[in-house]
Amino acid sequence: MKRFFTTCVCMVLFACAFLPTAGAEQVTWTVDMASQGIDMSDTLYGLFYEDINYAADGGLYAELLRNRSFENRDLLNPSSYDHLTGWMFNHRNKGKGSVELKTEAPLNENNPSYMQVTVDGGAYRIVNFGYPRQQTRPGIALTVGKTYRFSLWLRNVDFEGDLEIVLENSTNQPLSNTISIAPDGGEWQKYEGFTFTATADEMAWLRIVCNGMGTFHMDMASLLPGDAYGAHWQNGGLRADLVDALMGLNPSFLRFPGGCVAEGSYYKHNFYNWKDTIGPVEQRRENENTWGYMQSYGLGYHEYFQLSEDLGALPLPVVHAGVLCQARGSQDLPVTKEEMEAFIQDVLDLCEYALGDETTYWGQKRGENGHPEPFDLQYLAIGNENWGEDYYYRYGQFKQAVNEKYPQLTCIVAAGPVAEGPLFEECWRLIKTRYPRDVVDEHYYMDSQWFLDNVNRYDAYDREGNPVFLGEYAAHEPVNFGARPNNLYSALCEGAYMTGLERNSDIVKLASYAPLFARDGFAQWTPDMIWFNERDVFFTPNYYVQQMFASTLGRYILEDAIGAEGMYTVCSMGEGEAYLKAVNVSEEEKEIKLVLSHTGYTGTAEAFLLTGPHKGAVNSFDTPLLVAPAKMEIAMQNGEGTLHLPPYSVVTITIPAE
Ligand code: AHR
Repeated sequence: MKRFFTTCVCMVLFACAFLPTAGAEQVTWTVDMASQGIDMSDTLYGLFYEDINYAADGGLYAELLRNRSFENRDLLNPSSYDHLTGWMFNHRNKGKGSVELKTEAPLNENNPSYMQVTVDGGAYRIVNFGYPRQQTRPGIALTVGKTYRFSLWLRNVDFEGDLEIVLENSTNQPLSNTISIAPDGGEWQKYEGFTFTATADEMAWLRIVCNGMGTFHMDMASLLPGDAYGAHWQNGGLRADLVDALMGLNPSFLRFPGGCVAEGSYYKHNFYNWKDTIGPVEQRRENENTWGYMQSYGLGYHEYFQLSEDLGALPLPVVHAGVLCQARGSQDLPVTKEEMEAFIQDVLDLCEYALGDETTYWGQKRGENGHPEPFDLQYLAIGNENWGEDYYYRYGQFKQAVNEKYPQLTCIVAAGPVAEGPLFEECWRLIKTRYPRDVVDEHYYMDSQWFLDNVNRYDAYDREGNPVFLGEYAAHEPVNFGARPNNLYSALCEGAYMTGLERNSDIVKLASYAPLFARDGFAQWTPDMIWFNERDVFFTPNYYVQQMFASTLGRYILEDAIGAEGMYTVCSMGEGEAYLKAVNVSEEEKEIKLVLSHTGYTGTAEAFLLTGPHKGAVNSFDTPLLVAPAKMEIAMQNGEGTLHLPPYSVVTITIPAE
């Protein structure tokens, strides 16, 4: 098992600072090192990535300009979003001129809107402020000395003059060098290869000053950090710190692009179509997001496949099954036979894009997009968290077509949006009757106590029945001002639950926390695992629990026993080392005598401890490491050792095994 603690600050000091107290409860924890329980799934811990909470544009996708292509819209709420989102024209009434949104002669048919700018006497100002917390403030965080790559599409109509472009603060103080572009020619042309170097650690916006007279058209402005991740990709451009955050979780799979985003809501045109998301970015057809904002698709299917590969994770696409997101209220969606055939063909094309060789149409496209080799596609989820007769019927149509052509692919069927109750039971009844071998995708967001009460949930599942993919789950604390918070305690309850997942990983083959990312001030959903803003990122205790468990996943279960209230354990054997995990969700400190049978191991065992000042502890931008794993050492003598587990804590221990 890879050990992956890049993000762990090994705060040995913190661990040592925890001194055992006299009143600690004495507990014996025995582990039979010679036992061999169930084989564990090596894909148990993965990631679910969805473009929610500005996880893509304004998040993992590193583009710093908002609405770079003037495609912004929201059909449900037209007054609050418009094509000018992110932009200010005639800024501070400097210069004379005007703008008009146009669609007559676009860059291409996928990118219908562009801006016509008419300058009448010079110094007309255009600003893009990125993603500010407060509208019309600078929203681009610059780091002194860092470079930023700029490009812009222009078409000159009769403009004579030039554009001076700079990054500056809200008082118009320049924070970078200025670049100058003189549009020429009467066709759309990409002006690229420009670099800004930041002169300060400050919030900036991008300002374009148009000097001259006449009219030009502009579209697809882009500002990307020079150190964006993916330089080895054709369309690289991910936020490097957020990619690091994913790497730190050591995932075995990456589920994408949603969630409800994969399905869309309310309208058929809102279905997520993977074909809109590949190829040159200016040719990608932007779409509204289920969560109320636009998707530029700068982070598209090809990049998801490449990211999976770089993470060492299996790509796990979720495609819609001709059903919109039912959990968001889109219940009835009549589709015609022709529409279903087209949807199914799209999915077959996706399989070809991932798996076909370069003699196939879509395999060739993959090569043109920079990846001649096939991607390692093994799983395909058809539907997100759907239910009902229509869905299960349509699922069957997709699955049959996919498996006829790609029998090696494992199709995943949804079991609705809830953990239990009549709807859940009905989903399982239909699945068992019709698709008794398929992997079943369960989703639930429940309070922390539910997770403790259900640690043994999967003990009762039929060993000969359907394998389970726990595609979305999270524990939360009581709702507070509409938010469902997570904290140390909810993370520990998830950890306790994950001991049950491990012990049942003959059934539970894959599991992923949800959602993964949230941008501060832009969130539609809580709880979330990783928080970021324009500059920083911090990890929740829930992140660290995922990290600790995923980096200590064994090959088979070892028998263990611990007789203590509020303690949950699981042990497994990996390659040449055993992994012991214990979660203490009680308010009592435990003094644990660790007894390993069938080994006389003497030496030092490495351990990581996660705890905090109190059960409700959270991390924040100001105190990102308040709850973070601390490295410890446990002295073992003839297979025995002692460890002190604080109240509300989790420990993972690695024992070298002969
Ligand atoms: O994870 C957030 C949302 O929760 C997902 O989009 C959806 O599948 C579920 O309802």
